[in-house]
Amino acid sequence: MEEMDDFTLRPEDGLPEDITGAAGPIGPPEENALDPEPVVGDDEPQLRPGTLEEFVGQDAIKKNLSIYVEAAKRRGEPLDHVLLAGPPGLGKTSLCRILAGEMGVGLRPTSGPTLERAGDMAAILTSLEEGDFLFVDEIHRLNRQIEEVLYPAMEDYAMDIVLGQGPSARTIRMDLPRFTLVGATTRTGLMTKPLLDRFGVTEKLDYYGFEDLEKIVVRAAKILDIPISEGGARQLARRSRGTPRVANRLLKRVRDYAQVIGDGTIDEATANAALEMQGVDVLGLDRADRDYLGLVIDKFDGGPVGVGTISVALGEARDTVEEIREPYLLQSGLIQRTSRGRIATHRAYDHLGIPSPSGR
Ligand SMILES: Nc1ncnc2c1ncn2[C@@H]1O[C@H](COP(=O)(O)OP(=O)(O)O)[C@@H](O)[C@H]1O
Ligand SMILES: [Mg+2]
Repeated sequence: MEEMDDFTLRPEDGLPEDITGAAGPIGPPEENALDPEPVVGDDEPQLRPGTLEEFVGQDAIKKNLSIYVEAAKRRGEPLDHVLLAGPPGLGKTSLCRILAGEMGVGLRPTSGPTLERAGDMAAILTSLEEGDFLFVDEIHRLNRQIEEVLYPAMEDYAMDIVLGQGPSARTIRMDLPRFTLVGATTRTGLMTKPLLDRFGVTEKLDYYGFEDLEKIVVRAAKILDIPISEGGARQLARRSRGTPRVANRLLKRVRDYAQVIGDGTIDEATANAALEMQGVDVLGLDRADRDYLGLVIDKFDGGPVGVGTISVALGEARDTVEEIREPYLLQSGLIQRTSRGRIATHRAYDHLGIPSPSGR
């Protein structure tokens, strides 16, 4: 029981009153700031795949997860804790919802930055029902106090809390319902080892290939009732940065264009023209991506240059640069990460039509 003290909740952690018994009956937590449908609210709910069959691509991950779900169901146990990692817009939140649906359990969504005090997490944990999913989006942003509540919760389905104050204070271990923590993160590298170690299942989502993206575009066009040709879908797929969320967003912008300029049908020429107008180029880069490359090449002779310097020069938050902008530039072979900073590859020079210095 040595660990107990380390992860003990105290009154100053902001314990919910229904645990300390200070007031009121035990009831479901109020709808409050802990609740928001994290960042995902911007997505078209219609387009979110509802089943594993509807979820296009990522076949290896789907296969693994469906086996774990089936096995857990047969044993009548909750699913092991799952960590879903990968860049934004690849389907982490969607997968979590699908898994909860397949398990037939409730889903409690929350996200790292919205949880402030240990008591916030305690309130959520005690409100769960057996088997429920607790979805923690952006789990790499949890603060330490909250993480420490999660350690015994994940490992032993338990929580240690101090009741009372002064000499009469005592610690009790409280049992929690057996739940499944599903974490989503764009930055596994920022997670602590003790937290990472407590996930039984870790799956990393990768950027989608053109074929899968084409299927996603065609599926979304069907749901939104947008006529689209094969060539139109192909262009959208190629310019979506390997990201379903981007594909869906571009589809809607191109639809606007097709309705106003054309006859409403998205064919290859309409798609190209509309995407050019949006500043989305043949690699799917937008203006900000090209600004990034232009900066590294023009101002810093192609690098190496630190990400902090790049962010300041672009006027973009460093997190945005690292979490959203760079992963795709890296994946596309346009930049490389070195110990001394980022460098632009010859591919970046080619793409911007700038002659590359020899040796790059
Ligand atoms: N595999 C997929 N098949 C079909 N649509 C997808 C897929 N993955 C993501 N999407 C679409 O992209 C949107 C964003 O996905 P989401 O699960 O919110 O990504 P993340 O949580 O990783 O940022 C979803 O609402 C859905 O419309
Ligand atoms: Mg999400």
